[in-house]
Amino acid sequence: SWTTGNVIEEQVAAIRAQVGDKRAICGLSGGVDSAVAAALVQKAIGSQLTCVYVDHGLMRKGETEQVEKDFVAATGANLKVVDASERFLNALAGVSDPETKRKIIGREFIRVFEQAQLEILREDGPEVAFLVQGTLYPDVVESGGGTGTANIKSHHNVGGLPDDIEFELVEPLRQLFKDEVRAVGAELGLPDEIVQRQPFPGPGLGIRIVGEVTRDRLDLLREADAIAREELTAAGLDREIWQCPVVLLADVRSVGVQGDGRTYGHPIVLRPVSSEDAMTADWSRLPYEVLGKISTRITNEVRDVNRVVLDVTSKPPGTIEWE
Ligand code: XMP
Repeated sequence: SWTTGNVIEEQVAAIRAQVGDKRAICGLSGGVDSAVAAALVQKAIGSQLTCVYVDHGLMRKGETEQVEKDFVAATGANLKVVDASERFLNALAGVSDPETKRKIIGREFIRVFEQAQLEILREDGPEVAFLVQGTLYPDVVESGGGTGTANIKSHHNVGGLPDDIEFELVEPLRQLFKDEVRAVGAELGLPDEIVQRQPFPGPGLGIRIVGEVTRDRLDLLREADAIAREELTAAGLDREIWQCPVVLLADVRSVGVQGDGRTYGHPIVLRPVSSEDAMTADWSRLPYEVLGKISTRITNEVRDVNRVVLDVTSKPPGTIEWE
């Protein structure tokens, strides 16, 4: 019968059989799936695993620290953190179009991750042969069920390696649904903040700034988002809502009055939604007191923001994210 204990035991044995005395790499995204996959593989092969976290500078407040400190404390994993925020900001400079932003972030992410993989290969040698991925059962079904290998190409600036390196994939969550993954993660000792994390898009805050992404705007949005999350958590609403994107309308300004002066600042949009699977969603009827508290705090505490608005659109027609 299905118990988290059985799943862990089975997968640990399977991972050991697959990897043997070779080494594996796992990319951490800050999300649930990669964290649980990494924790399982760590339990199975310990120091034969190296985790890589690419900090693209588009994470929310505290998320990078969660990976660097809490994940490492809970699992004892080797972690290589690559601070690439400068590189991502440079690549995003002058870009406002949502799809272009997504493409740039995706492309840079792969480049930075591959470079980190090559560095690990250089340090640890050819016995690095496996790549861990947090593929879930629904992903397997969606993509037609194939399992396989990942090809990475070396870059001209990282010398001394073969042109093509092939990794065999380790996918210990392939038979699991999301709630089962959370249960396994909890059993493995991962903290609630990681295991119960709501969905958050890979491109991060980069697609929650309507307009060009700059360091200043990211800082501002990060503060507003942290306030909204803090108040939603304090009100006990984390389980009730699917997620609540907080969006900065960086290309919009409106007139306000704060203190004795007129301001001309940016609006922040709250987009709380309820959903089963993110394919469709309804806007969450949050209590007015909670909305009021978030609005007051954001306009008081975040410079350049003088207005908070609520998105009351279902999906369809609106997507959950604004970009
Ligand atoms: P939309 O905006 O399409 O979002 O209604 C549906 C769900 O997917 C998340 N999302 C993403 N997740 N990479 C991700 O890993 C992405 O590029 C991405 N775009 C949207 C979104 O947060 C919501 O949960």
